Amino acid sequence: MPALVLLGAQWGDEGKGKATDLLGGSVDYVVRYQGGNNAGHTVVVGDQKYALHLLPSGILSPGCTPVIGNGVVVDPAVLLSELSGLNERGVDTSKLLLSGNAHLITPYHTTVDKVTERFLGKRKIGTTGRGIGPTYADKINRVGIRVQDLYDESILTQKVEAALDFKNQILAKLYNRRAIDAAQIVDELLGYAEQVKPFVADTTLILNNAIDEGKVVLFEGGQGTLLDVDHGTYPFVTSSNPTAGGACTGTGVGPTKINRVIGILKAYTTRVGAGPFPTELFDKDGEALRTIGGERGVTTGRDRRCGWFDAVIARYATRVNGLTDFFLTKLDVLTGWEQIPVCVAYEIDGKRVEELPYSQSDFHHAKPVYEMLPGWSEDISKAKTFSDLPKNAQAYVKALEEMSGAPISAIGVGPGRDETIEINSFLS
Ligand code: GDP
Ligand code: IMO
Ligand code: MG
Repeated sequence: MPALVLLGAQWGDEGKGKATDLLGGSVDYVVRYQGGNNAGHTVVVGDQKYALHLLPSGILSPGCTPVIGNGVVVDPAVLLSELSGLNERGVDTSKLLLSGNAHLITPYHTTVDKVTERFLGKRKIGTTGRGIGPTYADKINRVGIRVQDLYDESILTQKVEAALDFKNQILAKLYNRRAIDAAQIVDELLGYAEQVKPFVADTTLILNNAIDEGKVVLFEGGQGTLLDVDHGTYPFVTSSNPTAGGACTGTGVGPTKINRVIGILKAYTTRVGAGPFPTELFDKDGEALRTIGGERGVTTGRDRRCGWFDAVIARYATRVNGLTDFFLTKLDVLTGWEQIPVCVAYEIDGKRVEELPYSQSDFHHAKPVYEMLPGWSEDISKAKTFSDLPKNAQAYVKALEEMSGAPISAIGVGPGRDETIEINSFLS
C-alpha cells in the first residue's frame, strides 16, 4: 500500500490530525499538499496535546519524514515558530522536507486578507486571516514568491517589488492603507533564509522515488471537500484544492501512484466561517454538540457552527474524491441522545433531491429531510471492536455507511490515539 490520501469529507475539522497521527507510526512519509497555517490539526498523544497548523501531523512520529509539498503556502515566520515550539517540547523536527516550489505567505498577504474581509463587510467569507487567499491569488497571477527565491537576493527583490507595485496601489487607493516598503519585506524574508535552508529539497523527486521503492506515503489534507475552491460551496471556501486531485498537483505525484483515498467524516457536521449549511442547528442540540464535542476552532478560537450528519454531503465527498474508505470520527459525542436525526436528502423548492445541487442558489434553499435513528446511552469510549458498541450505535454506523457510498473502515470514540476502532486496516 505505497500511497494513500487522507482528507476531510465535510467542512474541515473532522479529526484529520488524529487520523494521520494514528497511521504515522506505520508510514514513511506524511505530506501536506495544500493550504497553509489556516489548518488546525489536533493530535493527542498520551496526556500531551499538540495543535499543528502548517506542519504535517506525521512530525510527531519519530520514524516518519514530514514533507511540505509544492501546493502548500508557507508563512516562514509561522514555520520557524511552530518548529521551535515542538523542539521545546522535545520533538525532533530535523527530518522535515520543504518544497522549494512552495509559495511564501508574506506580511502583505496577511494584510490584504484582513482588509479584503473588512471591505466585504457582511458578505465576508470569515477567513482565518492568515493570508491564504491572497498568496494563492499571487501564485495564479504569476507574481508569487517561492521558497527558492530566498536564495537569490536579486530575484527576490525584483519579485517583491513587482508584487508590491500593484498591491500598494490597491492598499493606498482602495483601502486607504499605508503602502508597504519592498526593502523591508525583502530584509524580513532574507532573515528567515538560513534557518529554513536545511529543510529545502526536491520533494517531488524524493516522494516519487520513495513510492517506487515501496515506501508508504500518506498525503494529509487540510480543510475539507466542501471548502475546496472547485468542488466546495464557492465562494465560501478556501483558496486551494483539499480534494484528492490536490494531492497530485500539490506534490508532483501522479494519480496512478495513489492506491487509497480515505475520507475523514465526523458523525455530525461542523463548519467555521460563513456560507450555507443545511443541517445547522440553532437550538439546544446544536449547543450540546458544540459543548460535548469541544467544537471551538484550533486556529482562530471561533465557535464552530454545529448540525446533524448530512449523508448528501458524504455521498458527494465519495464522488468527487473517489473515496475508498471512510474514517468516522467523534461517534462518542452522540452518546446520550434518545433519537439522532440524519439528513438523507434535501427538499429544494418542494422537490426531494438526493445529490448535492451544483447550483449555489439551490444549495442555499436546501432544507434537510431527516430520518430518525435510535440513539444509545452507554459510554462507548472504551470500545475496541465494532461488536463492543451498543446495538444502536452499530446500527447508526451501518446506516451512515449505506448512505455514504464507501465502507467505514475505522471509528473514533475519543480524541486519543488508542480511542479508535479499526475495522479494516488502511495499510493492507
Ligand atoms: P482536523 O482539523 O481535521 O485535524 O480536526 P481538529 O483538530 O480541528 O478538530 C477535531 C477535534 O476532535 C480535536 O479536538 C480532536 O482531538 C478531536 N477528536 C478527533 N477524533 C475524535 C473522536 O473520535 N472523539 C472525540 N471525542 N474527539 C475527537
Ligand atoms: P482544518 O485543516 C475549518 C475556513 C475558514 C473560512 C474559509 C476560508 O483544521 O480542517 P481561509 O483562511 O482558508 O481563506 O478561510 O475556510 N477554513 C477552515 N475551516 N477547518 C480548517 O482547517 C479551515 N481552514 C480554513 O473558516 O470559512
Ligand atoms: Mg482543524
